[in-house]
Amino acid sequence: MGAKNSALKIIPAALLSGDNMVIKNTPYIKDIDKALSLLEDLGVKTEKNRRTIKINPKTINKTDLNAKIANKFRASIMFVGPLLARFKEVSFPHPGGCVIGAGGRPIDLFLDGFKHFGAEIIKNENNYKLKATKLKACDYFFTVVSVTATEALMMTAVLANGVTTLRNSAMEPEIKALADYLNSQGAKIKGAGTSTIKIEGVKKIKAGTFKIIPDRIETGSFAIMAAATRSKIRITRCKPDHIRALLEIFKKINIPFREGVDWLEINKPKKLRSYNIKTHEFPGFPTDLQSPFTVLMTQAEGSSLIHETIYDRRLLYVDMLSQMGADITMCDPHRVVVNGPTRLYGKNLTSPDLRAGIALVIAALIAQGKTKIDNIYQINRGYENIDARLRGLGAKIKKL
Ligand code: EPU
Repeated sequence: MGAKNSALKIIPAALLSGDNMVIKNTPYIKDIDKALSLLEDLGVKTEKNRRTIKINPKTINKTDLNAKIANKFRASIMFVGPLLARFKEVSFPHPGGCVIGAGGRPIDLFLDGFKHFGAEIIKNENNYKLKATKLKACDYFFTVVSVTATEALMMTAVLANGVTTLRNSAMEPEIKALADYLNSQGAKIKGAGTSTIKIEGVKKIKAGTFKIIPDRIETGSFAIMAAATRSKIRITRCKPDHIRALLEIFKKINIPFREGVDWLEINKPKKLRSYNIKTHEFPGFPTDLQSPFTVLMTQAEGSSLIHETIYDRRLLYVDMLSQMGADITMCDPHRVVVNGPTRLYGKNLTSPDLRAGIALVIAALIAQGKTKIDNIYQINRGYENIDARLRGLGAKIKKL
């Protein structure tokens, strides 16, 4: 399917232009609906027909993001840069979303970045107001590598005066896809996909058609699921090159696979070997595949050290794997050791966040007995129609 984390940036990018935009290959997931509601609330007209979304931004009539909608998903922060860039003012609440960062997920890099463009920031009890008479290009160094902050400042710079340089930028494929689209509409962005991005501001950009790139995290989740359940699965319309870190590890832990430019076939592993991972920004091992990989390691021979470096609260789900029979020791909030192989048993569980949710589904598929997972809203946020698709692969799964 199309990548959630690309769609959620391309939709706000529609606000950078006054022209109509068409987005193809959008996944059917909850976060997309929320992004479209947020646009509608601004007065923008949207139309959804199967996987194609049409956006007509001409009718926009305000620049304050509806708190009730924006509070529900982290990617609402992606609307701020384009609104500021085009209308020079925006107000928004602190964004909501997965509870994987300590104390909520910070937006300090965004605010600091917008300030460098000359925006004045007023923080009220319930929202932030940003204003600028003119946005001027800046030289900005990200003290923490951040995907969304890189995308936000890149979009802001597109309409700022002068040449902006973003240093220590994130390099995820979704950032390059966004830059490619904006360049095709008249933006002047160089270096997206590397750590230094240079953006020459332009007066305005057009809008056109964008086809969302394949979801690398979904591809990786299905690949891990195949290996964990010792199944043969062929994944089509994907980009194996975007999950190279995972595939290189597959070679080391005895998971046979074949690949083409846009397909990946996972074959049954005989004896899985353990492996240590440390999550890292792209092209390293993605934090979004850490939890599925941990489940896989419960089936591998030996000990694996799982080191989560990006988020503070992304290992809490291991408690549930332990309840299912996994042998996992928590060393500290960022590291766990998994000893395998262990048999897992079905239990009643609650999905804490999106990626841990899919990890629990994988654990349930390999467990003996029935597992019930609550709070599947979190899984639906990112995985389209997961129950029906897994049933298609032979899983016994039903949505209650
Ligand atoms: N950070 C800050 N300040 C900020 C922003 C981020 O300190 O203002 C920190 C975060 O706390 C974290 C680190 O920077 O420790 C990296 O976070 P990043 O900003 O890169 O994450 P994100 O941009 O909010 C995107 C994806 C996440 C994915 C991460 C890492 C979207 C909408 N979200 O989040 O996706 O885990 O990059 O690759 O693109 C998911 O899909 O389940 C998901 C959480």
